[in-house]
Amino acid sequence: MLLEILTYPNPTLRKVSKPVEKVTEDHVQFSKDMLETMYASHGVGLAAPQVGRLERMIVIDTRPKDEEGNTVEEDMTDLEKKIEYPLVLINPDIKIKKDKTTYGEGCLSVPGFVEIVERANYIEVEALNVQGEKITLKTDGLLAICIQHEIDHLDGKLFIDRLSFIKSNKIKNRIKKYGYEHLEAVENDNEEDYKNL
Ligand code: CO
Repeated sequence: MLLEILTYPNPTLRKVSKPVEKVTEDHVQFSKDMLETMYASHGVGLAAPQVGRLERMIVIDTRPKDEEGNTVEEDMTDLEKKIEYPLVLINPDIKIKKDKTTYGEGCLSVPGFVEIVERANYIEVEALNVQGEKITLKTDGLLAICIQHEIDHLDGKLFIDRLSFIKSNKIKNRIKKYGYEHLEAVENDNEEDYKNL
């Protein structure tokens, strides 16, 4: 089932999501709906609060694809290749962060805007999978960036909060004034290589 994606400035996106206490059949179905919604919107990650459910749960599929939809393995890091996709992470918790990297981030909740954001380059994450089993992930590359972006959603944060004060306010004021209309008029130097996270 396709779910409705909330967009900034919807106040639900600003709330802190609650941990999942017990993984149930309902979470299994919800993860399928989230993935269906993410793929239909051409995103590579989606967090539960983006579809109005304030639980700590995210879905991710950052595999690079060619025009036929086949995975392009050579564009993945060695650590990314070891992961099974799509990923469903419940109560994800970053235990270790190392080094810095930057990437042109977009977001399905802030459609049409892409900005360079700084994140940790390498992370180690503990979470539950959708079977309720404890898992540990070690990764870098786009997957590490995406996990950090999605966990921000669980804490009520958006990528536009991580920009300079001036840039952040410019985007927020623009959206509050014009909504997501006239997006073709938004100047964007960062659009070449980006993903909706
Ligand atoms: Co996002």
